Amino acid sequence: MHLLSAKDLNKEVLFQLIDRAKYFDKQLGKKVHKIAEGKILATLFYEPSTRTRLSFETSMLRLGGTVISTPDMSNSSAKKGETLKDTGRIVSGFADIIAMRHYEGGAVLKLSEGSTVPVINAGDGSNEHPTQVVLDIFTIIKEKGTMDGLKIALVGDLKFGRTVHSMLQILCYFDVEVYLVSPDSLKMPKVFIEIAKKNKLKFIELTNLSDIISEVDVLYQTRVQQERFASVQEYESLKDKYVIDKKVMSKAKKDMILMHPLPRIVEITEDVDLDSRAIYFKQAKNGIPARMAVIEYLLNL
Ligand code: NCD
Repeated sequence: MHLLSAKDLNKEVLFQLIDRAKYFDKQLGKKVHKIAEGKILATLFYEPSTRTRLSFETSMLRLGGTVISTPDMSNSSAKKGETLKDTGRIVSGFADIIAMRHYEGGAVLKLSEGSTVPVINAGDGSNEHPTQVVLDIFTIIKEKGTMDGLKIALVGDLKFGRTVHSMLQILCYFDVEVYLVSPDSLKMPKVFIEIAKKNKLKFIELTNLSDIISEVDVLYQTRVQQERFASVQEYESLKDKYVIDKKVMSKAKKDMILMHPLPRIVEITEDVDLDSRAIYFKQAKNGIPARMAVIEYLLNL
């Protein structure tokens, strides 16, 4: 079993993961588990990452397992022309589970086709990032107590942002109202919109954050994905369309939560960090228990 897309997480599995994440969260820092003793995680990152890679590695170590990785996959056999399928075949002979990030959508699927062990998509191009959504939902439930009845705004680069692609699919499991706020040129891709429609998710697409800022319970801000743009000018013209600053925060609900998968560039000003509604650093930390739950589940421990 692999975790390549949010589609691989049905509602039952998602709740099981959240439950286990809650448990691991309580134990965090108190003990190292023996659940994954003797198991090895390989992290293959073909694209820059700090949080995600370190959080996968920390999660495995806290489960009692060990980790192997290459410092930089651009120095790997890929350079010699090895196919991802062959890399999957080889690495699955060394490790019990693989977490992989790649700059191309669909690349993790290719590797999984050669792998005999579970493969986790840690972000493939602008496609998906399914473990991020586990930690995001875990965070929302931890902070708000429930998902049901919430008004959730996904803001910014909905075209290239893989975290929101996984998120929109998972939001279909809940009784929520969703606002998709983006410039016209960075709208949520059709394939994900179709999934939302098919599942009768309540959502609207809009360009003006100020129309809904005072109503939302969760504001999920995203970075405009510079690396996906062909032209620097286009990126420059879009990067600061929705900047969350103190003024914007003053219009939001007193109990709204402000999330961001990070890294944050210009889209949330630093002075907002001091606002108790800004929870993105806590959110990043929740990646540990959430990924512990994912690894435990995929290894069938
Ligand atoms: C995100 C990613 O890599 O997709 N970051 C992350 O994994 N925490 C978001 C981003 O890079 O903007």
